[in-house]
Amino acid sequence: MDKILIQGGRRLEGEVAVSGSKNAALPILISALLTAEPCYYQGIPDLVDIHTALKLLSGLGVRVKKEGDPAVAVGHFMLQADHVHKMEAPYDLVKTMRASFLVMGPLLGRFGAARVSTPGGCAIGARPVNLHLKGLAEMGASIDLVHGYMEAKAKRLRGAKIYLDLPSVGATENLMMAASLAEGTTVIENAAKEPEIEELATVLNKMGAKIHGAGSNIVKIEGVDELHGVSHRVIPDRIEAGSFIVAAALTRGDVRVLGARPDHLDAFLLKLKEAGVALTIGADEIRVKGDGKAKSVDITTLPYPGFPTDLQAQMMVLMSVSEGVSVITETIFENRFMHAQELVRMGADIRLEGNRAIVKGVEGLSGAPVMATDLRASVSLVLAGLVAKGKTEITRVYHLDRGYEHIERKLSALGADIQRIKG
Ligand code: UD1
Repeated sequence: MDKILIQGGRRLEGEVAVSGSKNAALPILISALLTAEPCYYQGIPDLVDIHTALKLLSGLGVRVKKEGDPAVAVGHFMLQADHVHKMEAPYDLVKTMRASFLVMGPLLGRFGAARVSTPGGCAIGARPVNLHLKGLAEMGASIDLVHGYMEAKAKRLRGAKIYLDLPSVGATENLMMAASLAEGTTVIENAAKEPEIEELATVLNKMGAKIHGAGSNIVKIEGVDELHGVSHRVIPDRIEAGSFIVAAALTRGDVRVLGARPDHLDAFLLKLKEAGVALTIGADEIRVKGDGKAKSVDITTLPYPGFPTDLQAQMMVLMSVSEGVSVITETIFENRFMHAQELVRMGADIRLEGNRAIVKGVEGLSGAPVMATDLRASVSLVLAGLVAKGKTEITRVYHLDRGYEHIERKLSALGADIQRIKG
């Protein structure tokens, strides 16, 4: 297994380009199941989760082709679902990537059948799929749990009014895809408002769907009989952008994060400003000039447009070396503080009380061998390693590879002393 080695203490300087959004790309690739026509996508990041999604789609019979000159066309793909012969998402793929569950809506919507493994628990909590299933059932699907698989059937889904008890990102996406080919109109109330929802609706509308209100808490989908092909470039990854911004602030560097969408990072950027981090915000770039210590601020993760749970671990590192005491409250996932104990091993002063972390800023961190436990926790350890004194060795970096494209290359180019040891 690969390891990441970091010699801390280098100030980051220069420019870094943000990759395409993982969380936008996954449902978009899966939406190719909704049409027999070819779909062209650009800006798909080179990540383990993306490869898992492509493997899943190929297994269903979707043709996947890398497009363009490999030297210039990074992340260009053509997907065509004209010979779908299998309606099943197997356990070994769903368990490694929960987003695989998103094939359920499009398979049911277009072919009237789907057999998808239940994802089970994951490191950051139970993460059930009850809201996905409730919505599909209200659209007329019959769903049974058979040997760990959800088997769903429907002659043709019909429009329905669906209320989500929680604004789940995945459930909103799954239901939007299913409803696009249903008979009649579907209304999703208390829908998730994340930028990735708006992005998926944009793609579906380009394919001929009739979706209104995506990005607000009520999404209306008028079903159509068929959808057609599309060409689309995915939005930049707001979480990757946020991670680089924290890296720059931590090392008191001077970094321009290019291709970022500041409008997708409002709550995060406002919190950084409150912490005294100097930011210059352009239309599609953010410059971070860190001079001096950040001030501690309190953070509560919330559904969008609130502070994103996917940037909580990174902010915890910044707060670990800030001036004062910060209270970080995690309201989205029940067990998303596993990085805290690893940060404590590096000298951070963090006390956990249920879904709260009380972080007392310390003078500095010291390098240590640490272990990545989930995707966002793993990047927080990289960030901690960048600012720590001495050497940090991170194991289980496959979590990192699920969501950060060429991270060691990008950080090295900014001056970090970071290397991957292949194992
Ligand atoms: C997506 C993101 C993930 C992010 C999360 C919250 C992708 C691929 N992943 O995950 O990076 O951290 O949004 O912003 O886009 N829930 C239920 N029942 C359900 C569905 C969800 O109780 O049927 C709960 C979950 O356990 C969790 C909360 O709702 O506590 C939010 O989950 P959800 O928004 O669905 O997250 P994902 O779509 O899995």
